[in-house]
Amino acid sequence: MSAQPQPRRVENLHTDKGKVPVYATGIVAQPWDGYSADDHATWATLFRRQREILVGRACDEFLQAQDAMGMTPHAIPKFDELNAALGAATGWTLIGVEGLLPELDFFDHLAHRRFPVTWWIRRPDQIDYIEEPDLFHDLFGHVPLLMNPVFADYMQAYGAGGVKAHGIGPEALQNLTRLYWYTVEFGLIRQHDGLRIYGAGIVSSTGESIHALESAAPNRIGFDAERIMRTRYRIDTFQKTYFVIDSFQQLMDATEPDFTPIYARLASQASIPAGDVLDTDAVVQRGSGDGWANDGDV
Ligand code: PHE
Ligand code: CO
Repeated sequence: MSAQPQPRRVENLHTDKGKVPVYATGIVAQPWDGYSADDHATWATLFRRQREILVGRACDEFLQAQDAMGMTPHAIPKFDELNAALGAATGWTLIGVEGLLPELDFFDHLAHRRFPVTWWIRRPDQIDYIEEPDLFHDLFGHVPLLMNPVFADYMQAYGAGGVKAHGIGPEALQNLTRLYWYTVEFGLIRQHDGLRIYGAGIVSSTGESIHALESAAPNRIGFDAERIMRTRYRIDTFQKTYFVIDSFQQLMDATEPDFTPIYARLASQASIPAGDVLDTDAVVQRGSGDGWANDGDV
């Protein structure tokens, strides 16, 4: 047997110039026996709290998939056990990582149906907010929809598209990153009984799970891939705009064409501020803008 690297906990560096993300490339075995009672308690608290909020708010596929994979509050799930369910459903595999990956590594994993999951969970003092993705965000937020065949294919196609965009250049990559942000992280979906959440950044946040659906402040706009690729976003406040899909199939269909000519076209167009509504938008709800910061879109 080859020796497993000792997993580290890689977090942002906080310097006098602000936070600096640190990237790690290693794949690590989940050190499950090393989780403390506090770690399991953090998982249990967050799991129970979010499930309570998400019934009737997250899309049915998401909630059903969590149950089907056997995610429960009782203990931090074992990647190996989730992988048995995931492998059978869609052929995806979870791999343990120490923190954020360099972009190309991340895309390459997705393109091969490997989803990187941070092995460590936030500390008790970080329970309500943590800047970088931890095990709770990755496992609770991202992994369930990998059980859905269409969404699973979308994630793989996104990875392949990322490898390509990386080769085209930083602007193409920025366009594609916005699409990930407004779908995989912060997407809403229209279900038979109303708007629901599917984005991992929303379902793993108590505040945003309520804000995204119930607040009058944000815009809710019909999904439009090219429009999204021009749209800036927020990283440390709730989103000013959410984009609404009708189905996961719509995501697949809209992102199927080769983006190369789209990237070329977008290169000469200005980006759209996070909170703007355009005449051409299919507006579901126009936001009041209450509480929005004027600056800070990225
Ligand atoms: N079709 C896109 C391209 O050619 C790739 C892609 C697929 C991007 C799915 C996002 C989501 O680049
Ligand atoms: Co995420």
